[in-house]
Amino acid sequence: MSLTVVANRVPIRKTDDGWKTSVGGLTTALLPVLEEQGGVWVGMGEDPDLPECQQYPEDDPDFLVRRVPLSDEELDNYYYGMANRVLWPVSHYLIQHLELRERFIDTYRSVNERFAKAVLDESPDDPDEIIWIQDYHLMLAPRHIRDARPDAVIGHFWHIPWPAMEVFRILPWSRELLRGMLGCDLIGFHVDEYVDNFIESAEVLLGADVTENTVTLDGHTTRVEAHPIGIEVDRFKKMAATEEVKEKADKLRNRLGTDNIVIGIDRLDYTKGILSRLTAFEQFLEENPDYHGKVSFYQIATPSRTKVESYQQLKREVDEAVGRINGQFARDNWVPVNYRYRTYTQFELCAFYRAADAALITPLRDGMNVVTQEFITATQNGALILSELTGAAYLLPEAIQVNPYDQGGLADAIKVALEMPDEERRSRLKGLKSTVEKLDVHKWAQHFLDSFDR
Ligand code: G6P
Repeated sequence: MSLTVVANRVPIRKTDDGWKTSVGGLTTALLPVLEEQGGVWVGMGEDPDLPECQQYPEDDPDFLVRRVPLSDEELDNYYYGMANRVLWPVSHYLIQHLELRERFIDTYRSVNERFAKAVLDESPDDPDEIIWIQDYHLMLAPRHIRDARPDAVIGHFWHIPWPAMEVFRILPWSRELLRGMLGCDLIGFHVDEYVDNFIESAEVLLGADVTENTVTLDGHTTRVEAHPIGIEVDRFKKMAATEEVKEKADKLRNRLGTDNIVIGIDRLDYTKGILSRLTAFEQFLEENPDYHGKVSFYQIATPSRTKVESYQQLKREVDEAVGRINGQFARDNWVPVNYRYRTYTQFELCAFYRAADAALITPLRDGMNVVTQEFITATQNGALILSELTGAAYLLPEAIQVNPYDQGGLADAIKVALEMPDEERRSRLKGLKSTVEKLDVHKWAQHFLDSFDR
């Protein structure tokens, strides 16, 4: 078997020492497969220095990176527009952020066609070849590939939630997008709920024939399955156990100087529920004066999609909320909310995970949420407060589960987490760690690829 991966982004970036692979869940999962079996990675490649075809590694190539060059206007309409202002909000049930523009779908159509053409140019027309497309940026590409190559083996993994049929059908192009996806042989989602929503969408909107996990349209059958993604557990475990991480975590605890540390770590995205989390922490402080001076909330927000207006507005609102809470509650030597708007390395994040007594992971909606798994792997005795509206919540019943829209419930959960008896923390964490070990990201990729044989 050889593999063609098709994703919005390419897996390499330019450094002073030449091209290097980038850090991220997808690259971690798929590069070992490409390195072992060879193949191609097709992606938009934002770096203008990237040639249209780049062998990687340069000196002794394992695979080819094929770039699909986009103009600024195409990038605006396909990525910032259709992907980030249409498919992202609708899939996360946050339709107040939805912006429907004809130019978004027009460009999305032509860009998806270009991705499909790049795949047809580079991937061998071979029955052993698997073409694996990633995420909501590329819903129409499978159909183009299928039309050109009826016998191709095509998979797609959707990394975000698939919304309820009644929400998906809000999109004026819902049927066309579904047809595009149904060019695949296999479609993966993180959890059964998204599988069910997708199948219902195909049945109701296209009149497709469906079973519990197949959809048949115009004589072609697509299997639809849950494949929950994991993290690189061993590497995280080792990293979290290093002396350097321990020292960094101790330093952080000393610097903050409070008995309790609660952390939040996210991309700055309106799906992550950062604002509601801040107001919940504010309510917790109002209701629990005993904790004044004794608890620090450390929120890290990584800059993301900064060209999109709703992200700029969210940044202003978060800045304002942090200022308001600190303005009201801070006193000598105590700053209740520590907020950082920047990118940290995984190594640095490990120190935050280790230093924390509790993690507050409360997205308004999230396909999986891998920060949860990183925290569980790195922490020794931390408590986990987890939004029930994440994919992770289906898999992690031992977390303290909350409805992220319930501010009072969140404020109560902070108290429960901080006051949880050691014995209970340990036993919950044991269950959480054992699930995360089983979800390992390498197993995820292998299970998905193995599934083509079944
Ligand atoms: C989510 C999506 C990914 C995306 C990532 C970061 O996890 O599922 O496809 O790459 O967010 O977003 P960005 O727009 O920066 O790629």
